[in-house]
Formats: sequence, C-alpha cells, structure tokens
Amino acid sequence: MQSQDYHTSQQDSDRVDAILSTGPAPLPQTELLPKLHAIQQALGFIAADLVPAIAGAFNLSRAEVHGVITFYHHFQTTPPARHTLHLCQAEACRSMGAEQLLAHAEQALGCRLHGRSADGQFALEPVYCLGQCATSPALTLDHQLHARVTPARLDRLLAQATAGTVAAP
Ligand code: FES
Repeated sequence: MQSQDYHTSQQDSDRVDAILSTGPAPLPQTELLPKLHAIQQALGFIAADLVPAIAGAFNLSRAEVHGVITFYHHFQTTPPARHTLHLCQAEACRSMGAEQLLAHAEQALGCRLHGRSADGQFALEPVYCLGQCATSPALTLDHQLHARVTPARLDRLLAQATAGTVAAP
C-alpha cells in the first residue's frame, strides 16, 4: 500500500472511529464497503495506518481489509492529487486519437491510467463519454471540460494547471 508513510492525524482517527462505531460489534462484513466509502468520503483516501482499526471493527485480518481496499480502483490509499485529469476512452474519442492522447499523457505524467504523476500532483483517470463525441477527443482537467484536445494542447493544459493558472477552454 503506497500510503505506508502517511500518519493519520488524531482528529481523522477519531472521525474514522466514529464511522466504525455505528453498528454492532463486530460489524458485519456486508458493512465493509459502505464503511470504506464513508471513510474515503470523510478523509479523501484510506491510509494504510487505518487498516488495523478497520480490521478490528470487522474482526477481519489486516490482509483481508487491505485486499478489499486495493481491489477496488475507487478506493485511494494516498492523499488526493492536486489535479485530476480524466481522459475519455470511449469509442468516439478513441476513433479520434484518444489512445494516442492517453499514451502522451502517460509519458508526460510518468504514470499509467489510475496512477499518479511522479510528483503526486496529477491523477490520471479514464472516463467513458463526456457528451463531446462530435468534438472528440475530450477530457476534463479538474472538472473543466476540454474538447478537440491534441497532445500539444494537453501539454499546455498540464503546464497551466501546474502553474496554477486557469486553463483556457
Ligand atoms: S466518446 Fe468521448 S466524449 Fe463521447
């Protein structure tokens, strides 16, 4: 788990304890996913140092909880990236160069889909249709929509995000 070095604050640990303390003890396994969602919603991610408390609340092994957290891409084990790039990988965009755009993004950020850039600033995620099929390939960067994106334009958007300036549509 990548968040091994992250130390959850006492305040956040208390929030997790509050989430885990609602229900019978031990909690039924059917509650594991809802509780993990609640923890991620509250903290933004599920740090490795929370796994023992979660496992204890469910009377599960740490390995079992770790396995569930890492099985689902939805669960993040590191603090949220500052920027999130969603690249459309659906059919219309793929026919207009989305695969090449993805390859370019992976090279520029130094990570694969579902990964983080080497500096931890960008998360690279797929999305499947943004309703911009006629102006594909499309992406969102920090929820801002961009269409007809070329690799050069993607570079500019990433540079603008890194510099903290508003990316031009
Ligand atoms: S397929 Fe990419 S916007 Fe519709």
